Amino acid sequence: MTATVKQPGIPASFDPVDWNPPGLPSDPDEIVAHIVDPKTRGELYPLFHQLRRTAPMFKSGPVAKQHGAWIFSRFAEVDMLSRSPRVVNDPRVLDSAFNHGDGGFTSVMRNVLTWQPVEPHARMRNLIMTAFTPRAIDRWRPIAEQVAQELCDCIAADGHADLVEQYNYELPFNIIARILGIPESDYPRLKGYAWDFAQLGEARGVDPEAVQRGDDAARELIAYFGELAEKRRANMGDDLLSSLLAAEADGETLTHTELIANCIYLLQAGHETTQDMLGNAMVALFRHPDQLRLLIAHPELTQGAVEEFLRYDTSVQISHRIPLDPLRFDGMEVPEGGLLVSFAGAANRDPERFPDPDRLDVTRKISSHIAFSAGAYYCIGAALARTEMAAGLRALLDRFPAIRPAGEGFEWRPTLNLRGPQSLPVTW
Ligand code: HEM
Repeated sequence: MTATVKQPGIPASFDPVDWNPPGLPSDPDEIVAHIVDPKTRGELYPLFHQLRRTAPMFKSGPVAKQHGAWIFSRFAEVDMLSRSPRVVNDPRVLDSAFNHGDGGFTSVMRNVLTWQPVEPHARMRNLIMTAFTPRAIDRWRPIAEQVAQELCDCIAADGHADLVEQYNYELPFNIIARILGIPESDYPRLKGYAWDFAQLGEARGVDPEAVQRGDDAARELIAYFGELAEKRRANMGDDLLSSLLAAEADGETLTHTELIANCIYLLQAGHETTQDMLGNAMVALFRHPDQLRLLIAHPELTQGAVEEFLRYDTSVQISHRIPLDPLRFDGMEVPEGGLLVSFAGAANRDPERFPDPDRLDVTRKISSHIAFSAGAYYCIGAALARTEMAAGLRALLDRFPAIRPAGEGFEWRPTLNLRGPQSLPVTW
């Protein structure tokens, strides 16, 4: 094991300001109520450990927001549910888990890959996958490296930055926007729409203003990608939108509505997730200064370290599914159509699967984690996300080897589906 060496200038404890949960409850509903509520959550992983210890699978009661769902927190079950071809995502999940009415947001979501019934999902996934070839990923790597260097150039002279706003957000947004073939002059307004759209994804229908803004943003995004698709149809390029327009598998193509909805989905899935993941990786390194120093000194560890960051604190924390047949577990039965909720972060810190799971170890050999799910819904952007993380982290650590937090603490975003720091002031 590597000895713990303090990175000069890093405070002794680099904790979120709301570190202390007021004692850990032992009732599983109460634990879940804390997990899903950013106001009472405190630190997430002690709650996940407590849940896995006390009720690794259970049907939630009225206390938890996930009322009536079957909740899983052990690696074995979460992995098995992800891989089972009879446990699926479909429009019923959208209705149970994300009840956002019938506005623009829902109309987009009804046409994206993830929320299709089984057969349309397989058809649409085959079509979209034709654009995510190893050759395409090889073409995207230099884009990721270039964007990372350009962003470092922008902040270098300042000597400090809010990493979330100026780097972690900008990096994946610029990469996916370039890959999709969006003209740079359109980035500012698209960022606004993308933000409002994403807010609705987390709002769970409780904030009418957020719902209105999210629906308006969805309509703007539909109009925007509709126009861009027309331009590309007349003049195809080597961008992802052109590849999706040309995508054909088994004599099928994407309909216009599917094309537009999935462009919006790729823009969203392609930046928020990675933004948060970069933030979680840097928070983890600041809390483990020995690992930060090791990674700065050994660039060859970067690829493996990316897997450890994904395991250690993933940005996509929740997966929803429904079983097509009744499921029987030790002491628990789930009927066909019951809502299943898997906590990926809890599974990725399961000591049965990962020894000493709370220790960040950038040299850890990981055979598989659940950060990108598994099976039929395995993240289409996983290879791109890995490339972006490696390029983004490497550029940052190589250019600013004395990087350290500029304050005593930080805050997490008040979200859970996606987890990441709200801001991360750093200096170097
Ligand atoms: C570190 C960053 C990322 C993480 C942690 C992540 C994680 C995930 C997870 C867990 C799923 C499965 C969702 C479920 O279980 O319902 C998923 C699906 C998906 N992801 Fe990612 N993702 C990341 C980056 C990306 C990027 C960069 C893209 C696209 C450019 C992308 C596109 C997708 C798509 C299209 C799906 C849906 C797959 C399907 O339904 O068949 N993701 N991702």
